[in-house]
Amino acid sequence: MAPSASDDATAAGRLWGARFEAGPAEAAWALGVSTGFDARLWAHDLAGSRAHAGELHRIGVLDDDEHARLRAALDRCGEAFADGTFAFRSDDEDVHGAIERWLVDDLGELGGKLRAGRSRNDQIANDLRLFLKDACTSTIAGVRAVQGALADQAEANLDLLAPGMTHLQRGQPVLLSHLLLAWFWMLDRDAGRLSDARDRLDESVLGAGALAGLTLDLDPRAYADALGFSRVAPNSMDAVAARDGATEFLAAAAILAVTCSRIGEEIVLWSTAEFGFARVGDAYSTGSSIMPQKRNPDIAELVRGKSGRVVGDLVALLTIVKGLPLTYNRDLQEDKEPVFDAADTLDLVLPALAGTIASLRFDGDRLAAAAAGGFSLATDLAEELVRRGVAFREAHEVVGGLVRVAEDQGTDLDGIDPAVIADAHPTLDADVADLLDVRAAIERRSSSLGTATASVRAQLDRARAVLDA
Ligand code: ARG
Repeated sequence: MAPSASDDATAAGRLWGARFEAGPAEAAWALGVSTGFDARLWAHDLAGSRAHAGELHRIGVLDDDEHARLRAALDRCGEAFADGTFAFRSDDEDVHGAIERWLVDDLGELGGKLRAGRSRNDQIANDLRLFLKDACTSTIAGVRAVQGALADQAEANLDLLAPGMTHLQRGQPVLLSHLLLAWFWMLDRDAGRLSDARDRLDESVLGAGALAGLTLDLDPRAYADALGFSRVAPNSMDAVAARDGATEFLAAAAILAVTCSRIGEEIVLWSTAEFGFARVGDAYSTGSSIMPQKRNPDIAELVRGKSGRVVGDLVALLTIVKGLPLTYNRDLQEDKEPVFDAADTLDLVLPALAGTIASLRFDGDRLAAAAAGGFSLATDLAEELVRRGVAFREAHEVVGGLVRVAEDQGTDLDGIDPAVIADAHPTLDADVADLLDVRAAIERRSSSLGTATASVRAQLDRARAVLDA
């Protein structure tokens, strides 16, 4: 199905040769031909053509027989694309022209009737909207799979602890499930952005023609109904010139790719000998060609690395659209490759990330040791002082002093002589053992967004409800 290279462009397949004496230069044609990438829109283009044939029939441009023959030819054309036998020619400029050329080959003069009442400008705007709506839907499904893997791991490991970090330094202990669900909610907003983009893309543009609307009495609402759009675009110039739907998809895709990248980075860290929090399953690990012992988290690294190209896709389209006057400009042909690339990249990244997460085996002992160490209960001690009437500023000082003592003694807060703690402030006593217990510290954080077990269970229920919806 791949279009053949343009050798010399004859006029036969072009849609616009008549007013020119000479055909395009080879270099000009090579720059302009888009079948190499827009072939991908064949199904969306044919859907638009079916709707258009229906409208031409309704207004009498096609009689019953012509309409039936055109519909049948469009079906045959779709079959040729689907089974890979559609042959592009070197003089097909784009997918729209190639399909018209195919119809003329197949039907003769009748094949040329479909061009009435439309332009490639509204055709491509329509095709791209249809593609983007589908891309939003399938990307959201990919995000749901990653969220599902996180929720499953959170549920299966509800008893495990983890160090909650800031600045990549241990801060306060949390449940591992709380940490995993943090990624779940970030991804949920990523899915929400794609869903918002899909809603705004849900607007039909056929009937806009080149830019001003049509003299033929074609009904924009009929196109919307036939193609599954909820609304009709309010303005024909906007309809053919706008690419903000594509930009919005790419923005949502880039933000999502960056979320995935951050998760990838977390997995890379966890799987180092230095952290040792988790092991990535064999199916998502790779070895080294020289170091026999290696077990590398390449897939998580690629998830991280692929975000770069999706961000690039967004920047590319923003840059393409930035200086364009109304309405259609050929620069807009450059919108498709970034959109396809971002959709394809996420199609690769999301299942691989979901699989990597599902394959993780956590080391509960190392996680617990890391959660408990690093003076991670210093805040709890300071807040206990606050409960006993001390200003936080002073409490911070007192506990900071105790941390220094512990550090000097090569121990943690729970290793200091209780008498020393009791001496540190008049409100303190030796009875702080419970305060310096990690589990107790976690259970104290029992507000709805905290890390206490009951809160995390409730969060999991909420997460499940999102996935079931
Ligand atoms: N291949 C073109 C694109 O992708 C289709 C629209 C061409 N319109 C035109 N006026 N040359 O944007």
